[in-house]
Order: sequence, then structure tokens, then C-alpha cells
Amino acid sequence: MYNFRFYVPTKIYFGKGQISHLSELKEYGTKVLLVYGGGSIKRNGIYDRAMKIMGDAGLTVYELSGVEPNPKIETVRKGVTMCKDEKIDMVLAIGGGSTIDCAKVVAAGAKYDGDAWDLVLDGSKAVTALPIFSVLTLSATGSEMDQFAVISDMSKNEKWGTGADCMKPTMSILDPTYTFSVSRKQTAAGTADMMSHTFENYFTKEKGVDVQARFAEGLLKTMIKYGPVALAQPDNYDARANLMWAASHAINGLIANGSQPAWCVHPMEHELSAFYDITHGQGLAILTPVWMEYVLAKDPTTAENFATYGRNVWGIADDDDKSTAKKAIECTRKFLFETMELPANLRAVGITSDEHFEIMAEKAAKGSVGCFVPLTKDDIINIFKAAF
Ligand code: NZQ
Ligand code: ZN
Repeated sequence: MYNFRFYVPTKIYFGKGQISHLSELKEYGTKVLLVYGGGSIKRNGIYDRAMKIMGDAGLTVYELSGVEPNPKIETVRKGVTMCKDEKIDMVLAIGGGSTIDCAKVVAAGAKYDGDAWDLVLDGSKAVTALPIFSVLTLSATGSEMDQFAVISDMSKNEKWGTGADCMKPTMSILDPTYTFSVSRKQTAAGTADMMSHTFENYFTKEKGVDVQARFAEGLLKTMIKYGPVALAQPDNYDARANLMWAASHAINGLIANGSQPAWCVHPMEHELSAFYDITHGQGLAILTPVWMEYVLAKDPTTAENFATYGRNVWGIADDDDKSTAKKAIECTRKFLFETMELPANLRAVGITSDEHFEIMAEKAAKGSVGCFVPLTKDDIINIFKAAF
């Protein structure tokens, strides 16, 4: 196990009615920039509730609305300008990962002299930020409790993840009832995303990281148990609560620190989103089983890792690593495409040509150096083709 620093400064209020704690924002100043997306928070009543609490606390609220799924740099720049012009004290995101990610870079951009895109390309330039708060409405990315933000510049077909300590939220409110209104599509995509975060951290060649591995298996079992329940019963509290808490821990460092994994499916998916603006979790679901099969074939020593996954997560009783690994991948495929009804190939999300595969693979290869089984540009082209 490598040395590590585990640092999660985010205060979490978890459960029904915890939004009342937004009154604590008054400890950080008087002017709040409220960041939200396309209007779901108005339809489900969270907006009115938040505005009332902040109004009662004497806070003045400015609004940045219309944050896109796969948030765009233009929206970030708009928020930065508002923060600077209005001398905003703090940023509050209410929404899913896109909204929280946008708010994070707005908060850092407000304290940065140059263009906010610099911070996306190089997280080390984000040295300080306005305090960031979130009310989470979609369980998926873990942005509510991590340092990352993913922003796109579609004019250049670029989507990059950045990260900095100053972008970790100061406080996040996780009320599972706020996710009751999440659509089937986004519930399934969110489950695939949190599973992928867990896989990215779990599949490592590093030995002796048992604590992290067993935590990861527990998270995966929870996601596999409750994803289908949330699809069938959108207002099942326990399902939504377990998915929410599992997603936060999949990416906050708990299962990554100590094994130092470099991610590889995410860099590939970010290229799909950068060129085709698809839903992140759907792209991950399509690539994951293909990637598993590909790396198992490329490096047969990974049979041990996939077999451990099969035995501990899927309960496969088979002494042979190779056959257990294959069965585990098949279980994953069936779960994503049949149980969770996610799209099973790139054509199903509207990617009908391979014209950009070369450039996408080149960029993804650069972004995944050091991952579980190293992938060249040609390997990634093969994975895209197999997912087609
Ligand atoms: O925009 P609104 O109207 O709010 O609607 C959203 C959006 O259309 C809707 N939604 C959210 N909460 C809802 C709801 N609809 C009904 N009821 C609710 N309670 O869902 C749609 C998708 O929202 P979005 O925020 O885009 O989804 P998600 O949370 O999956 O975020 C995806 C983004 O996060 C990035 C992805 O790349 C993508 O850009 N990621 C961020 C990470 C991080 N910060 O650590 C890591 C991830 O790997 C990921 O890359
Ligand atoms: Zn993700």
C-alpha cells in the first residue's frame, strides 16, 4: 500500500429535511451565487425551499441557471463574471454533477486572474476558491464530496477533468428524497457511473490494498442491489439513500488512496462526450464490459482480479480464475444492459460513424497513462470498434 493523504473536509448533512442547514451559509458572508441546471429544481420544489431558507437567513441570492449536462466553459465564464462583478461571497450548487462541477470552477475562477479554462487544463492553478456548497439531486458523480470538476469546450471537442483541494465542497446536503424525481434514464446512468468509479479504483495491480478492495466490493454490491430497486420504485427511500451514500464514497479517496490507480475507462468516455455530448454514465456502461474483455485478453494475469470480483461481488462459485473472470464480465454486461436497461452500444446513443475514433483514441491514451492494463492508441480504437 502506497503512502497517502486522505483529506475530505466536506461537512455532510444526510437525510430528509437536511436542507434547513442552508441557514449556515450566513457564517460565510451575505452574497450567494446559486447555480442550477435546466429547471428540475423548480419543478420538484427544492428551489422554493432553498430560497426561503436563504431569505430567512438574510442572504442575498444571485442566480446562474441553465447549466448544461456536460457543463460548458461558456457557462463557467458567465458565473465567474457574476462573482467578480457582484463581489459574491460563496457559491451554492443545487443539482447533479454537472451543476456542482460548474459551481466548483466558477468558485475557483472567481479567485483567479486569467481565463477559467486555464483551471480546467491545469488544476494546480486553482489555489484558492470561494466557499462551495451543494445540495445534491442526482446520485452519480460523487462531486458533492470530491475535488474534481469536468468541463467541456465543444468548440474544440474537449472535455477535461480537473481537481484541487480548494474545489472540495465546504458542505453538502444529501437528501435522498430529492432524487425521487430522477428519470429512469438518469437513474440507470448514475448507477453505471458510480459503478465505474468503483471499478476504476478497484482494478489495480497493487497488492495489499485489502481495506480499499473490500470497501469497493461492498459499494458495488450495494449499487447492484439498489440500482434496480430505484428503477422499479423511484421513491424507495432506502434504495435512493444507499445509492447516494455509495456514490459519494466511490470517488472521495476512500477506495483509491493507497493503490494510486490511474483511470482508463473515464478518459475513453470523456472523448465520446467531447465529440458527441452523450450522457456520461451511458457511455461508461457501453465501454465497461468491452474494456473488461479486452484487458483480460491482452493481459491474462488480470484473470485473478476479475475472478476476485466475480466471487466477492457476484458470488460466483468456481475455482478456475479464467472461467470465473469471464462469468463476472458476463454478469456485469447483463446487469448494465438487461437489468438497468442501459444502451448496449455506441450506435444506440447516436454515434453512427467511426470518423473520430483516431483522434479520440489518441487523446484518451494520453489521459490513461499508468492504468490497470496500459492501453495504446490502437488498443483504444479496438475498444471503440468493439463497442460500436
Ligand atoms: O439540469 P436539470 O434540469 O437539473 O436536469 C438534470 C439533467 O438534465 C437532471 N436532474 C438532476 N437532478 C434531477 C434531475 N431531474 C429530475 N430530478 C432530479 N432530482 O438530470 C440530468 C443530468 O444531470 P447531470 O448533472 O448532468 O448528471 P450527473 O450528475 O450524472 O453529472 C454528469 C457530469 O458530471 C461529470 C460528467 O462527466 C458529466 O459532465 N463527472 C464529474 C465527476 C466529478 N465531479 O467527480 C466525475 C465523473 O466521473 C464525471 O466525469
Ligand atoms: Zn464518472
